[in-house]
Formats: sequence, structure tokens, C-alpha cells
Amino acid sequence: MSTATRRIPLSSPWIDERDEELVLEVLRSGRLSLGPTGPRFESLLCDATGARHAAAVSSGTAGLHLCMRLVGVGPRDEVITSPYSFVASANCALYEGATPVFADIDTRTLNLDPAAVEAVITDRTKAVVAVDIFGYPAEYDELRAICERHGLALVEDACEALGARYKGALLGSHGWPAVFAFYPNKQITTGEGGAVTTASAEEHELLVSLRNQGRLDTASWLQHGRFGFNYRLDDVSAALGISQLEKLDLILEARRDVARRYAELLADVDVELPLADDADHERSWFVYVVKLPRGVDRDGVLGRLAGDGVAGAPYLPSIHLQPYMRDRFGFSEGLCPVSEDCSARTLALPFHARLAREDQEYVADRLRDALG
Ligand SMILES: Cc1ncc(COP(=O)(O)O)c(C=O)c1O
Repeated sequence: MSTATRRIPLSSPWIDERDEELVLEVLRSGRLSLGPTGPRFESLLCDATGARHAAAVSSGTAGLHLCMRLVGVGPRDEVITSPYSFVASANCALYEGATPVFADIDTRTLNLDPAAVEAVITDRTKAVVAVDIFGYPAEYDELRAICERHGLALVEDACEALGARYKGALLGSHGWPAVFAFYPNKQITTGEGGAVTTASAEEHELLVSLRNQGRLDTASWLQHGRFGFNYRLDDVSAALGISQLEKLDLILEARRDVARRYAELLADVDVELPLADDADHERSWFVYVVKLPRGVDRDGVLGRLAGDGVAGAPYLPSIHLQPYMRDRFGFSEGLCPVSEDCSARTLALPFHARLAREDQEYVADRLRDALG
């Protein structure tokens, strides 16, 4: 078969004329930052998440960092989080001089195993950063009960999960701080960007001040009431966020359809498919990650797919085994065996809202062949 011209990317944002129109409007308005577009985007984000408050920020990473400030994480504290995630969910603790502590994951959900979380709590533990990996909600009832029992803060890394629901309620609406991200591979994009939602007016006020160099509502531009950061989202990005949110329902439905089609097309392929929703967990599809059988040469599979023009990725390496984590904390294999096993076998396939059925058929065929 000729495969010379076919190129199927891992992800692709949905950008159309409405996005261009709203971005152009802001460019022409001359209000490129701290104008009226940011608050409009935040208000629509509240609608989309059911949150009482939303603070837009410059990235998901910035949002996670601000949450560490919000809950008072500092040097010598420990922050428990998932090893099977993107590095930012652990790095936010490092930014404040705290130590990330990795608890193993559940092999089915790929999210934190609450029992593993409880097992690593010490008198230095300050917070738990739970991650909704690949858009699948973590076990919040159990995690919240553990946090309450031990006096810990709960922060949700929902960077991959805009539109997902836990126990029927949208992520972002549950009250504790939740962080979303809008990099171009996410459900919606603002180029770079993110947001923190919370039910607390006090927390929201602090977030707004911290992202804006510690300025206070009451003070002048060059007065800084506290030590802060420049984690603001500009108005051009916020405009893109508005047009993206306008089509959020369409995007989420299209992504669900793409996932449904993959499940059909891969039914006879020897891989484990992503976990299906249940009454408590409604995934918002972020990436489509399959688990290869033990013993399969994943790099070989990825290489064969790449040769056929199909982008794939070894999602996700375990954070504790990243070189800088090993160097700094002496982490090694065996610390989180479930995560390590998943890291060795999971593979992300091309996935986005407008992935054509023919391309999905091609991906499924190429994967079937690559697995021999
Ligand atoms: C789970 C998770 N946390 C945090 C982030 C960080 O978001 P950003 O890239 O916007 O800083 C990402 C982004 O890929 C993510 O997937």
C-alpha cells in the first residue's frame, strides 16, 4: 500500500472563521490585555464548568502553581500526586520548595488509587493534587474524605478534562480549586492558557491578585500588596477562548463520536481500550490511549506507525522516573509499579474532534499490522 503522502497528526485544534472574527475584533479594539474580554471568557467558563468563580491564567502550569500558593504549600511540605501524569502536576510543588510524593495509580482508571494516597501521608503532607488523566475523573469522594480526615488540601488537575463529570456534576463545580488548560491539543484552546475554578470568593480574589503581580483591588498599578506573578491571560487569547467555548458542546460530542468509532474499529485488535464511562465517571475525551499487551515492542510499533504517516506517542512516562526527578530525589523503578507498567505499555493514537472516519480506519489498520 502506498503510504507516502498520508500524514495523520496526533492532535489538531478546531479553528474556524468565528475564532478568526473574535480574535480580529480584539486586535482592532486595541485592548490586548486587561480589557473586557478576559472577564467575558471567565464568565463563559463558569457556565461551562458550573463553577462559581473562574480565574483565567497564562497556562495550566501557572494555574497549578497558583493553587500551591492558594493552599499554603511551602518549603518542607509534601504534596501527594500521581506519577502517571504530565510533569506540571508534580512540578507545581517543586516551584514552592515542597517535595512531590508519588502514590500509585489504579490500573483501570489510570488515576490515583485512594488507598495508595492514604498510605504515603506523613506529618509533612500538606496537599493532594489529583489528576483527571486523559479526561477521566479521579475518585473524589474517597480523596476528599482522606483529605478531610488528615487536614489536607485537595487540588484538582483537570487540565485534560474540561466537560467531564464526576457523580453527574461537571468538574470545576465541586468546590475545591480545579485547574484547566487550553494548549492546542486540549478540548478547547487559547493557544497557551488555563484557568482555575473555585467556589470560594476569597480564593478567587487571591488568585486574581497573585496572577497580576500581587496587585490588590484597592491599590494603584504600581503598588503590590503581596508577592505575585505575571500569570495573566491576554485578551487575544481570551477572545479565542470565547469562540472555542461557543462550540464546546459540538467539540465534546465530536470527540465522543471519534472515540466511539475507535472502539468499534479496534475491537478485533489486541490492545486494551480506554475505560468506558460508568454512573460516577463521565469522561471528556482528551486523547485516545490504548494499552499494548506485555512483551510488545512499543517503540517498534510507534516506528512502524510513523513510517505509515501515523503520529503516535508513548503517553505517559511516569514522572518519578524523569531524569531530573531521579537526580533530585533518588526515585527509581519499583516506587509505583502500576504506573510504571502502564507507562511502558500505553500508546496515544491520533485524536481530535474532526478526525475523519477514513483516517481512523487507516490508523486502526496500520496499528493492527504494526502489532503483527
Ligand atoms: C495533566 C496536565 N496537567 C497540567 C498540564 C499543564 O498545562 P499547560 O501546558 O497549559 O501548562 C497539562 C498539559 O498538558 C496536563 O495534561
